Amino acid sequence: MALGQANSADRVEAIPLSSALGAEIRGVDLRQPLDAQTSARIRKIWNDHLVILLRGQELSEEDQVRFGESFGPLNRSAKKRAHHNAKNPAIMLISNIRENGQLIGALPDGEMQFHTDQSHQETPCSATMLYALEVPSTGGDTLFANCYTAYETLSDELKARLEGKRALHAYDYDNASTRRGTVLKEGIPHAVHPVVRTHPDTGRKALYVNRLMTLSIVDMDPAESEALLQLLFDHIEQPEFVWGQVWKPGDVLMWDNRCSVHARTDFSAAERRLMRRVTILGERPF
Ligand code: SIN
Repeated sequence: MALGQANSADRVEAIPLSSALGAEIRGVDLRQPLDAQTSARIRKIWNDHLVILLRGQELSEEDQVRFGESFGPLNRSAKKRAHHNAKNPAIMLISNIRENGQLIGALPDGEMQFHTDQSHQETPCSATMLYALEVPSTGGDTLFANCYTAYETLSDELKARLEGKRALHAYDYDNASTRRGTVLKEGIPHAVHPVVRTHPDTGRKALYVNRLMTLSIVDMDPAESEALLQLLFDHIEQPEFVWGQVWKPGDVLMWDNRCSVHARTDFSAAERRLMRRVTILGERPF
């Protein structure tokens, strides 16, 4: 579309990115406000594909916040460090850049295991949006797995075994984004959620456990819990359910944390990576 042209639902195109999940949306300039029909069309594509990608965007903080707000109220309480130079309290920086020896953002370096954002909180964010400003020449990709498909492809026996089960999630990876404990340590933020959750918009069921933050299944023998979780993690992360975003500056990517998990591939510490992030407030998983 011509830059500066007003957005219109008729011009919105969705191009699937893989058989697992994801759609690229074309025909939208996020510097321009979205009318109700265009927002509804984008939301429908997002509900159908779980992850949406808009390329070649040139967004101010305000543009990104406005787009985020079209999905619901934003989280404005990110850690102070991660705001750095951001003017808007809804913006958090994800970056490995250090200025005067200090990190300017959160989740700085290298690989991260599959996880879903804020599953250690009682009401985790429903969605996360990243806008890429600087990306490494290779690596630092974000991988996504479809947790609806993961649930739907379980055997009936396994589905019955998971019925009513709840799991403990904890945030214990400030400096270790690839390891996970199985025991809750003193003072670590945590929450308990259903192992299978229902998406409030689509009504579909999705597996809601992840390799980075799910410690154990509640009221289950530890060895049995660990074996079951490892089986579920491997099932969720199988290549047929996964698609990976190879970033370019100007990419806007938004994912649904209620039905997908994501991971990050390693990248060189010698290269800069800078993303602006906003998250949309969510509901208690059910
Ligand atoms: C995140 O897990 O929210 C960050 C993902 C990324 O940096 O690609």
